[in-house]
Parts: sequence; structure tokens; C-alpha cells
Amino acid sequence: PPLSPGAPLIGHLRALRKDPLHFLQAQVREYGDVVRLPMGPTDLVLVAHPDGVRHVLQDHARNYSKQSRGFRVLQELLGHGLLTSEGGHWLRQRRLAQPAFHRQRVAGFARTMVDAAADLAATLEARADTGAAFNVAEDFTRLTLRIASTTLFGADVSSAAHDIATAMSRLQVFVYKRLTQPVPLSLRLPLPAHRQFERDVGSLNRVVHGIIAKRRRESGEHHDLLQMMMEAHDDDTGERMSDTQLRDEVLTLLIAGHETTASALAWTLMLLSQHPGVRRDMESELARELGGRNPTYEDLPQLELTHRVVDESLRLYPPAWALSRIATEEDLVGGFRIPKGAHLLIAPWVTHRHPSIWDNPEGFDPDRFLPEREQARPRFAWFPFGGGPRQCIGNQFALMELVLVLATLLQRVRLNLTPGQVIHPTPAITLRPRPGVWVTASRP
Ligand code: HEM
Repeated sequence: PPLSPGAPLIGHLRALRKDPLHFLQAQVREYGDVVRLPMGPTDLVLVAHPDGVRHVLQDHARNYSKQSRGFRVLQELLGHGLLTSEGGHWLRQRRLAQPAFHRQRVAGFARTMVDAAADLAATLEARADTGAAFNVAEDFTRLTLRIASTTLFGADVSSAAHDIATAMSRLQVFVYKRLTQPVPLSLRLPLPAHRQFERDVGSLNRVVHGIIAKRRRESGEHHDLLQMMMEAHDDDTGERMSDTQLRDEVLTLLIAGHETTASALAWTLMLLSQHPGVRRDMESELARELGGRNPTYEDLPQLELTHRVVDESLRLYPPAWALSRIATEEDLVGGFRIPKGAHLLIAPWVTHRHPSIWDNPEGFDPDRFLPEREQARPRFAWFPFGGGPRQCIGNQFALMELVLVLATLLQRVRLNLTPGQVIHPTPAITLRPRPGVWVTASRP
């Protein structure tokens, strides 16, 4: 692939660290669909075109491993859960968890999602009466934690939301710094940052162990994901999952299941406040289809514009903004030779703004997702949930949650960005709005 020359020794490492979103976009504008970026000891190959993405994530997925630096750094936090394992172990765990995410199972979560959203709506209505400004991103973290923990593990951990969010904010920054360091230091070195890392992992572990201990006390009456994982036996050895393995899976699902959807909700509310015309159309759709009552699973097909708003928000602000892979065999991507061992970067942020795929890529236009316009685009022009065998297991769960929460909230409150606010998309593990999304609430 064409080489984008960087600084001596460190290549583009500094630019990638400082402002990866704009840096990567600029590389695509200058060099096209596949570009080689020197990054100190290794090169990074950015694959931007949807056909290349499809090749790597789906069609030739078996030529690519997830064992990049980022993966190892993430393993320091999540261990060997679904997101950060590979091979036979990953496949066993995926098969074990999959039934909990079948459409029918997920449909059964609709009620819990709506009840939780309705409680938040009541809180926001009360704030509408006071006129006070607040960071709605925090409310969404609490909401999505409650939804993920009650549906998957039968335990509401939202009262620990503040501790979890504080630990996660620090961990995201720490993990992201480590994976953009030329050589990450051993965590055994007694540095203050490493001690803080241990304390933060410790507070997440306490939440997870609390969930598991609660279940051990009440076993028998549950049929959820946690129960399935606790009862599963290995086909060959007949053994149960070890405590460590259980901890890794629960923590992975808790983090992957709430951070991303909380961030998607915050971005969506920001966009709706910036585009009052779209918000009015959405309010009309909700009034027409629901007439003021809370949505149910059966209402989902009618909420077409709400779905399109969610899709467009995930295009502009994909919470999982970049994925990485390593080539385990030599390969050809977009006509370019990819050597064995090459590090690949695949970034929804970049592909979702690809100038030859999307008209006015920076513009917010939910109607891009009208079926006829969608059919005109390649499959991987939009892939906020990844694709192929490692596609997000919570894909349906997340889309349903986003639509139900929005449909519940928007009928009862309008959120307006406080004036003069500049919100920066900040890439860590997920793409977060910094310094949050500060709003006031009013009644529609
Ligand atoms: C994997 C995005 C919500 C659990 C992934 C991947 C992406 C993604 C892009 C693939 C990573 C890769 O290929 O390297 C998102 C987004 C979400 C979301 C944007 C919300 C808007 C959820 C939810 C759950 C979840 C709600 C669980 C309830 C997982 C798990 C994996 C995963 C366990 C690893 C799957 C595997 O490798 O087998 N997610 N996700 N995610 N996601 Fe999600």
C-alpha cells in the first residue's frame, strides 16, 4: 500500500496519539482506501474502503487474528472474556452466550428497558421544573448499567454507577495511553499510574463478585445469561467455568454492554438538540404511533424514523470507533499486498465518513437509512457493530435498547444543549463526548 511518511523513528505515533480521528481521516483523503502508516517499531495499515473492511472482518476473517497490542492491553483489564479471547476457547464461550442473545430472548428484555427509561424520564421531568443544567451522559451511564445488569445478571448495579463510571473513565485513558506507547511498561513496576490501575480494576471486580455472590445465594430461580454461564459444563472435561473465567465474562459483558450504549445515547441526544427539525419529526412519529404511552417490543417496526436516527447517530459517532487485526497470512486487500504479521486498523469512524461512499459525510441526515438509499451502498459502508464471526453479540440488544429508550424519553422531555458548549469526540476504547453532554430539560 502507499506509504504515508512520518517522523523519523516514531513515524505517526504522536499524531495518532494526539488526534487520531482527524489524523486518520486526513490520511484517507490523501492516500486513498488502503494506506501504510509507520508507527515507530511497527507499521499500521489503515483499511478504509468498505470492500476492504468486508474482506478482513468477514470474507477472509480466518486470515486475521485479534491479538494486536490493543487486545493484549485490554486483556490486562478484561482477562479472557468473549471480547478478548480467540480460537477454540472463544468459540466455546461464544456458543455458550449466544442463546441469551437470540431475538426472542432479547425481545423479553423490552419491558425492563422501557421501565428503566420511564424512571429516568420521571427524573428528567422533575429537572425540567427546576431548569438546572446537568450532564445527561452520566444519567445514561446509570440507565444502561441498570439495563445490562438486570437483563443479563438479574442484579441491578446502577447504585454503583458512580464508582464504575469513575473507574472506567480512568481505565479508558490509561488503556488507550498504553496502546499508543512505543513500548508499554510492565504493570509490575510500582508506578502511581499502575497502582491506580489496580485500584480501579479492584473496584470493578468488587461489583462483579457482588453479582456472582448474590446469584450463588439465590440459585435456582433464574434462567438468564449468568445462570447459563454458571451451569455450563465443558463437553470434554465436564468442568464448570472457573471463578476467574466467570469474572472475565461478567466484567466483559457488563462493560461492553453499557459503555457503548450510554455513549450512543449521549451522542444521539446531542444531535437531536442540534437538529430540532429532526427532533420534531421524531416527536410526531412517536405521538402518531404511541400516543403518549410507553413503547413495547411490538411497536418497534413502526418507529422507522427513530431507527434511522439511531443508525445515523451510530454512523457519525460509532462508540467502537476503531478495531484492530493482525494478518496471520500474506493477503491481498484492495489490490495491495498485506504481508504476514501486518497490523491492520479498521475504523468505523473513518469508513463512516468515506468521501467516495457518503454524500456530505459530516452532515446529520437520518434519511440516508431509507431502505432504497441503503441498498445503494456496500454492506460495510456502515458497521458500528463490526462484522463476520466476531460481530458484536449485543447488536440486536443495543439497537432495541436505543430505540426503546429514545421513544420513552422523547415523548416526555426535550433536552437542550446549554449554549456555547463545545463537545469533543474523544477516542479512548469507546468514543466519548468530552466534557459530557450538558443540557437543560423542558417539556415538549
Ligand atoms: C463486540 C460494538 C453493544 C457485547 C463488539 C464489536 C463491536 C461492538 C464493533 C466487535 C469488535 C471487534 O471485532 O474487534 C458495539 C456497539 C454497541 C455494542 C457500537 C452499542 C451501541 C453491546 C452490548 C453488548 C455487547 C449491549 C452486551 C450486552 C459485546 C461482546 C463482544 C462485542 C461480548 C465480543 C464478541 C465476540 O468477539 O465474540 N461490539 N457493541 N456489545 N460486543 Fe458490542
